[in-house]
Amino acid sequence: GIKVVTIGGGSSYTPELVEGFINRYDELPIRELWLVDIPEGEEKLETVGALAKRMTVKAGVPMDIKLSLDRREALAGADFVTTQVRVGLLDARAKDERIPLKYGVIGQETNGPGGLFKGLRTIPVILDICKDMEELCPDAWLINFSNPAGMVTEAVLRYSNINKTVGLCNVPIGMRMSVAEMLEVAPERVHIDFAGLNHMVFGLNVYLDGQSVTNQVLDKLTSGESMTMKNIVDLGWEPDFIKALQILPCPYHRYYYQTATMLEQEQQDLSEKGTRAEVVQQLEKDLFSLYSDPDLSNKPPQLEERGGAYYSDAACSLIHSIYNDKRDIQPVNTRNNGAIAGIPDDSAVEVNCVITKEGPKPIHVGELPIAVRGLVQQIKSFERTAAEAAVTGDYHQALLAMTINPLVPSDTVAKQILDEMLEAHRRYLPQF
Ligand code: G6P
Ligand code: MN
Ligand code: MN
Repeated sequence: GIKVVTIGGGSSYTPELVEGFINRYDELPIRELWLVDIPEGEEKLETVGALAKRMTVKAGVPMDIKLSLDRREALAGADFVTTQVRVGLLDARAKDERIPLKYGVIGQETNGPGGLFKGLRTIPVILDICKDMEELCPDAWLINFSNPAGMVTEAVLRYSNINKTVGLCNVPIGMRMSVAEMLEVAPERVHIDFAGLNHMVFGLNVYLDGQSVTNQVLDKLTSGESMTMKNIVDLGWEPDFIKALQILPCPYHRYYYQTATMLEQEQQDLSEKGTRAEVVQQLEKDLFSLYSDPDLSNKPPQLEERGGAYYSDAACSLIHSIYNDKRDIQPVNTRNNGAIAGIPDDSAVEVNCVITKEGPKPIHVGELPIAVRGLVQQIKSFERTAAEAAVTGDYHQALLAMTINPLVPSDTVAKQILDEMLEAHRRYLPQF
């Protein structure tokens, strides 16, 4: 039997993961699923844990759900550790998204200044988990969903001794599902050559039953068909831009290629419904009141209102393929190892990989199209600089990261946002 430990187990997303494990139980017999949280999250952990138990009982699956506030107790002897932590909870996210807006900058909890600060708060916590793993389950795989997942994977590769690590995101799966919907076919018939970075990933080619349909999909993308996620507004694309680009952007690319309109939209949303964090706070309240209903014993459909919907498909498929040495192809965040030219070998990239029992083997991509190569490299520079700042607590590295982020317009604005955010998040940034 397999032992899985989920850190941040009290998350509202957990039922998604539990459902994924239940559905795959025959091929992936998880004996124990440990849901771990911090003392402040005890109530949520109890609620989600009780729901998880009802789900396994209803499904008749002998997966033991264990709840713990003691991470070290849980980690001992684990085979897979998944991390889905939000340091400072949604209040911190609200600050990540709100403060930059005051300066006319998109906050964005993964890609903008918000992403920088989420990284500064999260990376030290993940590196601590790595230290515990070295001691208590040195052979386990670390599968991280905590955002900013690309920056976190970069930090784990660079600053920890855990080599068996993979970063995961639902964006590639979401793109595949959207394409399948556009073409009105089953998702299994669609294959996309993914390459880039987390929340900066492109579909270089799109295939239906092995035949290229890239141009057809790009046409649909510009003719009113939507491809997005619940957390990102779809303002449409300039048809001629997509025609010129020739590859499939991900929903997060809107922040870079539509910066002005996305900012306008966020400023408008701010007065009408608050930031995404505040929308999600309400969604969470509703979810937790559903979860506490003792008659509920499945994942409620309301969870699909979250941007991370279906992330369990990515998690379960990955664990399944590592465990069974399946050698299928999945897009994950892993060490580049020369797959994408122009990105250091030892940096994290999001790319299609063959998933083996030794982990993901990136499929060679070579050079990215010249039109996007520079942006991808720039974001990698941002992630690396930010990861270094998170580890060292060096003010100047943090300022550098803030200033080189493409969403930040000037050094002075960068410094103003940085200083205000350092102050606002002080409690969660002991390294500064
Ligand atoms: C996307 C991203 C996730 C992110 C989520 C936010 O799906 O891939 O990394 O966490 O959206 O969704 P939320 O509902 O929290 O805004
Ligand atoms: Mn993601
Ligand atoms: Mn310095």
